[in-house]
Amino acid sequence: MKDSPEKTDAVRPRPFLKWAGGKGQLLAELQDRLPVSFGAFHEPFLGGGALFFDLSARGRLAGGAFLSDLNPVLVETYATVRDHVEEVIAALHDHRNESDHFYATRALDPATLTPVQRTARVIFLNRTCFNGLYRENSSGRFNVPFGRYANPTICDHANLRAVSLALRPVNLSRADFMAVGEKALPADLVYFDPPYQPVSATSSFTAYHRDGFGEDRQQALHEVFATLAARGVNVLLSNSDTPFVRSLYAGFRIDSVRAKRAINSRIDRRGEVGEVIVVGGPAA
Ligand SMILES: C[S@@+](CC[C@H](N)C(=O)[O-])C[C@H]1O[C@@H](n2cnc3c(N)ncnc32)[C@H](O)[C@@H]1O
Repeated sequence: MKDSPEKTDAVRPRPFLKWAGGKGQLLAELQDRLPVSFGAFHEPFLGGGALFFDLSARGRLAGGAFLSDLNPVLVETYATVRDHVEEVIAALHDHRNESDHFYATRALDPATLTPVQRTARVIFLNRTCFNGLYRENSSGRFNVPFGRYANPTICDHANLRAVSLALRPVNLSRADFMAVGEKALPADLVYFDPPYQPVSATSSFTAYHRDGFGEDRQQALHEVFATLAARGVNVLLSNSDTPFVRSLYAGFRIDSVRAKRAINSRIDRRGEVGEVIVVGGPAA
């Protein structure tokens, strides 16, 4: 089939990176708790951006969108797909699902590459690595082994073009989540999807980024959530169902939901875990 940019309109954008904690499983639960209308949408723990892409595909972002994440690699990848999608697609054509090529690409020093080459490398590694999980070691190097998938889609042209279009009007930044406290206005919608509070001492749920996200950060997040809710901002937050999380948000509506999790350090802990969605502000 001919691959042309005109096809883009027909494709609903969806996440182009598989990310630890991706919210594809929770979308219906989140949709059920959205306000009927809202101003701008803010997603300060962007990751794979499942809720952003879903709202974009539904035409619910007329009030604008602010997306941010602390991870500079992630933010550069989004910005480059937005601004240079055809070059990224061309660069992805140089990649193949072969072990030697995977390890040679993994070994490249990102600092020696252009933003387009770095972005194609991130998408390629994400598509072909084990579990499709982005993970850096303590020195900031991508260290996931080859995934040995039979036929992974390395370059989904149609979706990348739809993603690029969806991102065009978006305000994208590398920032700590605290910045949203200054930015969000009454009647806006903020969705917080932080690295989850661990469900057990051995859980790796907090290992999304080498900076970690301990109880002090969960407390700071609660402060921002409560401040925004008091200001009339619609706030939604997902987290694991732990006594700590429940006590933090005791003053708010806390709904239990179940979500399937494929990414965990121990096979025997895979499967369903309890999660909560906390709702605050006018929509609660
Ligand atoms: C649970 S993931 C988000 C998943 C996303 N909602 C999805 O559907 O794929 C958490 C994200 O928070 C980011 N993060 C960690 N600490 C942060 C901080 N202090 N401020 C902003 N983002 C942070 C991580 O880089 C990661 O992308």
